[in-house]
Amino acid sequence: MSSSDTQHWNPAQYQQNARFVSDLGVPVVELLSPQPGERILDLGCGDGALSLKLVEARCTVVAVDASAEMIAAAQALGLDARVMDGQSLQFEREFDAVFSNAALHWMKQPAQVIAGVWRALKPGGRFVGEMGGKANVAAIVTALDAALSARGKLAPNPWYFPSAEEYSALLVARGFEVRVIETFVRPTLLPGDVGGWLETFAHAYTVLLTESERQALIAEVVDALRGTLCGADGAWRADYVRLRFAAVKPEIAIR
Ligand code: BEZ
Repeated sequence: MSSSDTQHWNPAQYQQNARFVSDLGVPVVELLSPQPGERILDLGCGDGALSLKLVEARCTVVAVDASAEMIAAAQALGLDARVMDGQSLQFEREFDAVFSNAALHWMKQPAQVIAGVWRALKPGGRFVGEMGGKANVAAIVTALDAALSARGKLAPNPWYFPSAEEYSALLVARGFEVRVIETFVRPTLLPGDVGGWLETFAHAYTVLLTESERQALIAEVVDALRGTLCGADGAWRADYVRLRFAAVKPEIAIR
């Protein structure tokens, strides 16, 4: 999923703390509306749970991800899954659609991603996806930054969360016709407290810490976020903002 050097993926931990990611990706599959016989690229496939849904829709699926661990998990499902950086896709006019759920925010070179998707698509092909949008996980980022700064440390934000306007402009600049693009707030129920989310996704903020420092920082961030992200019902919800879009490479493209 990630092309970040500081993020490492553990499929078992992902299964425990982040199963909701593919569960909540089902509406994105519906927006894609996969048709039997289509050849589809799943960009940032993770453990392949949604790629499998596309196979069940009788599509031919190539699933790519920068994480070798996640690709091994996807291959174990019987998928055609390949390790590849989404910022340098190696395909030429072969797909009817490129699909991406909860992965594009790990790729900090969006113009390179979009250029690779464009090359990968046949004329008339669709690019449909969902990612973190502007202000996604803002409370979490603020709490992480504060906890690090209290220790005299800084971490670069590992994620790219664009507004609809910004992402639309990038798609249009490459030649795509944007059919749908929107951001919406979606507080996202977590399977436990936000500590599991931090353990799974926020390595960039803890990579320079010792194990005991890391555990102390995570405990402190969980406490700092309790008032904001933990409801009266005791359930934790991450402050997600989604950016969802569907764009088309025109049948007759000049470039
Ligand atoms: C997201 O899906 O919005 C997300 C997941 C992990 C890290 C950051 C954002």
